[in-house]
Amino acid sequence: MKISNKMKNTTAIAHSNIALIKYWGKSNQKLNIPAVDSISITLKELSTKTTVRISENLEKDTLILNNRPAVEKQRLRISRFLDLIRHEKKFDFPLEIKSENNFPTAAGLASSASGFAALALAASKAAGLNLSSFELSELARKGSGSAARSIYGGFVHMHRGDEKSGMDAVADQLYDENYWDLRLLILVTSIKEKEIGSTEGMNLSAKTSPYYKNWIQSSIGDISEMKNAIVKKDFEKLGELSEFSCLKMHALAMSSNPGIIYWNENTIKIINKVRALRKSGLGVFFTIDAGPQVKVLCLPQDISKVKDEFKNIKGIKQTIHSAIGPSVYILGENT
Ligand code: PMV
Repeated sequence: MKISNKMKNTTAIAHSNIALIKYWGKSNQKLNIPAVDSISITLKELSTKTTVRISENLEKDTLILNNRPAVEKQRLRISRFLDLIRHEKKFDFPLEIKSENNFPTAAGLASSASGFAALALAASKAAGLNLSSFELSELARKGSGSAARSIYGGFVHMHRGDEKSGMDAVADQLYDENYWDLRLLILVTSIKEKEIGSTEGMNLSAKTSPYYKNWIQSSIGDISEMKNAIVKKDFEKLGELSEFSCLKMHALAMSSNPGIIYWNENTIKIINKVRALRKSGLGVFFTIDAGPQVKVLCLPQDISKVKDEFKNIKGIKQTIHSAIGPSVYILGENT
């Protein structure tokens, strides 16, 4: 196959996302099909910038992650993902990938979501494929389940789908980033990479947790209630459902054997503080992915108060304030 983009750099930007209704568990490992639907918001402040160049001169794919050569395990994961594009476009040249996150990698801030969404767009474009959002979402999902959602900005619904092939296990946009202004205060309590990745964790839960079946069944109701809350812009309801889904997912992880605990003592301290603030009348809720970082949800009029409340808490290493972010896009193509 003739590739016209051989010496061109193609750069894409994708934003991370946080699930309000969580996904945990896969129905097909190989195709990376989630066992449950999920609903997320895309995060304006957390992004990955990825540049791809197709290169005849290399022997194998190279990956520079945050300005350093990636470890072999990461490089191989990316290389297997790129094989999907090479297979589709029928070429076998290696690719040079440079990827940079503006936030800590693999610490529960969904770097794989923005990472694979940016890579799906940059690499497919570099290879001369003009994929629709639907096709990009399916491709990104094969890299990481949550990446399928980072193709879109705003409020996003990821479907587990019905097809065995996974072709309908894709995300779609419920509303764009201008629909409803919500804010998140991301409180980083540790910058260490987590010990158990989400794939390993969810596979263990599926195999060993006595609660797994109920988790799958109960998520159907959570999705329809959350969609309703978003349609009505009912913040209380959205917050309650987010906390419920978050705690349910972590309880599932904890009920695996051996139990998985993603939190540290500061995670719990923040959870308690959010609930105390709520009791005192402030509209705040929390959600947490597979890591120790807490994301505090609030309305824009409360963000300065919320920031003040968490300003002097020991154990918070970094604070990021984010609004809702846009879809993945091409930043540029140059030689
Ligand atoms: O994207 P994955 O396959 O690594 O899974 C991420 C799962 C959670 O972030 C914990 C929840 C979610 O729905 O994003």
